[in-house]
Amino acid sequence: MLASAPREPRPPVEPYKVKVVERIRLPSREEREAALRTAGYNLFQIRSDDVYIDLLTDSGTSAMSDRQWAGMMVGDESYAGSRNFAHFEATVQELTGFPFVIPAHQGRAAENLLFSLMGRPGTVIPNNMHFDTTRAHVERNGSKAVNLAIPEAYDLASPHPFKGNVDVPKLEDLLRAGPSKVPLVMVTLTNNTGGGQPVSVANLTAVRDACRAAGVPLYLDMCRWAENSFFVREREGGMSGRTIPEIGRLCFDLADGATMSAKKDGLVNIGGFVATRDAALAARLKEQLIVFEGFPTYGGLARRDLEAASIGMREACDLDYLAHRIGQVRYLASLLDEAVIPYVRPPGGHGIYLDVRRFLPDLPSADFPGQSLVIELYREGAVRTVEVGAVMFGDGAPGDPAPLELVRLAIPRRVYTSAHLAYVAEVVRRVWDRRATIRGVRMVEAPERLRHFTAKFQPNG
Ligand code: F0G
Repeated sequence: MLASAPREPRPPVEPYKVKVVERIRLPSREEREAALRTAGYNLFQIRSDDVYIDLLTDSGTSAMSDRQWAGMMVGDESYAGSRNFAHFEATVQELTGFPFVIPAHQGRAAENLLFSLMGRPGTVIPNNMHFDTTRAHVERNGSKAVNLAIPEAYDLASPHPFKGNVDVPKLEDLLRAGPSKVPLVMVTLTNNTGGGQPVSVANLTAVRDACRAAGVPLYLDMCRWAENSFFVREREGGMSGRTIPEIGRLCFDLADGATMSAKKDGLVNIGGFVATRDAALAARLKEQLIVFEGFPTYGGLARRDLEAASIGMREACDLDYLAHRIGQVRYLASLLDEAVIPYVRPPGGHGIYLDVRRFLPDLPSADFPGQSLVIELYREGAVRTVEVGAVMFGDGAPGDPAPLELVRLAIPRRVYTSAHLAYVAEVVRRVWDRRATIRGVRMVEAPERLRHFTAKFQPNG
């Protein structure tokens, strides 16, 4: 008998067909070099026309469905009382169970509303891991942002099924300070900063119990709640028979409210909200909303955008869609496995996070190895990715290591085919093969906050 050949990674089959296309083009090597120089070696500063495959973010980059586009055409652009807001509000209420829904133009606008009311100097706001804008809003209002993910979250090779989980004993310690010192606890579904890793319902239940005992409210950052629910369905005991909206409700029923960037699991290009059970807080949020975003029935958005988001949030709960989406991430992972390229395991919900310390073990933090890898992936094949490491989070002394040093390949929703992903894997592999020649960069210019967007770099000579 012949031994069976190793199985080729199989691309997931799309549960949709293409109706509109957008042309993309691979710029020449000379064009890529010129684009890098002009951008100060910061990929946020590169024109999208100079990018072939854009894995910078999964946020606001989704392809909308024909039904969502149809929804855009029935936008009722009334300033007050738009029917599209009524649809949006009803969808959020049904999916989350939160009675008060305050629309906002994107996630960080929702964070601004919430933290400007709940944050204050001398307090601490814990999260499994704060996303960069979340941390910025917590700190802007004088609170201290603390990350309390379980230790496995920092062990990039650990196969733990719920690496987004909160370290509950640590949370209990922190909560001993009481509600005057901890105005709220946040949990991010999925943990974006730590690799798109899910949080289990069991862990959320323990977090809720700790919050309740301390009298502190629990808020969820629900940007990727549908992807989180997919992992719960697959990995948590007793969950396989439940639908995505049912699992979502199990999570939301444990919480007092949520912030949402609909640019992720809302499958839209813009939109977000804060939702809460707290009527008094909702009234104050609405006052803030009117000052910063607009009237409470549009929140900084065209009403047609609210319609597209209410359709998108339901589409994001479709199991065929989610199986394909997570399947694409796993397909890319399996192609990287063929060359034994190190990334955060298990593969996350919205992308692959390359493990930079193992990819470029000889480059010290001071040489910004993550940023160097981002530059090389662009140089090699015009693939745009993002650094999640010393540039994004290490704003201590120069050369201070960030807790994690990653490069994220975020996969936009319903945008790229598996052939595109095979191309990406090939580009990563070519950079991997010449990794010993990568020299690092130095930062030559940086703003005070959120420096990864605008900092400038120079290659080490
Ligand atoms: N929370 C999380 C977990 C996020 O990932 C993001 C955005 C936000 C809040 C803010 O939402 O962009 O609508 O203002 N993440 C994007 C990313 C930018 O690339 O991961 P926003």
